[in-house]
Amino acid sequence: MVGTHRVAEAAPRKDVRPFKMIGLLCAGVPRAARRLEIRDLKGRTSLPLLERANARARHPASHGARQTCDGRSVANEEQRRIWNELNAPRFFAVRAELERSLAPFGHAAIDALAPHPGESALDVVCGFGSTTADLAARVGPSGRVLGIDLCEPFLAAARAEAPRNAKYLCVDAQTHAFDSPFDLCFSRFGVMFFDDPPAAFANLRRALRPGGRFAAVVWAAPRQNAWVELPVRVLAAYLPPSPPPAGPGPFSLADPGAFQQLLTRAGFSRPRVVPLSVPYFAGATVEAAALLLLQLGPAAAVLRDAGDAAKPLRPRIEADLRTALAPFLGPRGVELPAAAFIATAARDASG
Ligand SMILES: C[S@@+](CC[C@H](N)C(=O)[O-])C[C@H]1O[C@@H](n2cnc3c(N)ncnc32)[C@H](O)[C@@H]1O
Repeated sequence: MVGTHRVAEAAPRKDVRPFKMIGLLCAGVPRAARRLEIRDLKGRTSLPLLERANARARHPASHGARQTCDGRSVANEEQRRIWNELNAPRFFAVRAELERSLAPFGHAAIDALAPHPGESALDVVCGFGSTTADLAARVGPSGRVLGIDLCEPFLAAARAEAPRNAKYLCVDAQTHAFDSPFDLCFSRFGVMFFDDPPAAFANLRRALRPGGRFAAVVWAAPRQNAWVELPVRVLAAYLPPSPPPAGPGPFSLADPGAFQQLLTRAGFSRPRVVPLSVPYFAGATVEAAALLLLQLGPAAAVLRDAGDAAKPLRPRIEADLRTALAPFLGPRGVELPAAAFIATAARDASG
């Protein structure tokens, strides 16, 4: 459970002594729910995913879900609360901007999946459903798409615009048992939030028919993403950094080797994780871009954590950020360097 990931629990152990802890900050996720990642002094991660996979292998009976006293499975409760109660209004406020920024990443991952007309697709953690609609167009009227997410407000917006061959379900991707298997399993920036990644990816593999295909796009490290790094750097001149986060978050699969091993251990065949560099469109003007970036991820967390202390500083912060963004203004608007990974894999034809 995310809520049990305390800072003290993630303190360096003796066998990882040279490691220092760097917080990987989580988009819109409050301090208590963010995740700690351990890196060595050269910035290499200590592969927390693998540690978690090993721990899970030692306790295979849990299947990634806590059992309540009446035997119900409960997983990802903290993520459900965060997205429904805290993040939904924040994301609705920047929905149009986010859709424009993220669309090229999703299109690249859908191209890697190569859907065919007539296929069935699962869109894992579909948010507002824009990639569900993209997939629905690619599989055509003879195909079908199911978008799943834990956030009811996002799904309500998605249902209001659903194409005829798309449906939505409010379920946990980590634990839901799907009625019938899919030809395709897809996700755009949605598979980094599970509190038990090995259990979640094993479940996604089970959702595929034998021979089915998987593709997902995830963020690379914040230092490779100027849309994260630049506003945080500007803020650092005015406000204290947010403390190290705990729990899952948008950069939790930023280690391609660990991600590939996670897919292998979940039973996928032919896993591949390849880098993707696409400019991040932040706005038509530096003014618009500055306003957007201060509402996203780590920068937003710094401002929230500062509370009222940030208010008088805000005009100077925005002015500095506009200056920092100016070199990135081109004919299409403000485009910032951004890096992600596309993972592809399959379920073996033999099952
Ligand atoms: C950054 S959003 C990604 C949304 C979408 N894929 C997109 O690209 O716009 C993360 C989403 O993860 C969902 N989520 C987190 N954990 C989940 C889980 N275990 N099962 C289903 N949805 C989950 C949240 O509700 C939220 O909509």
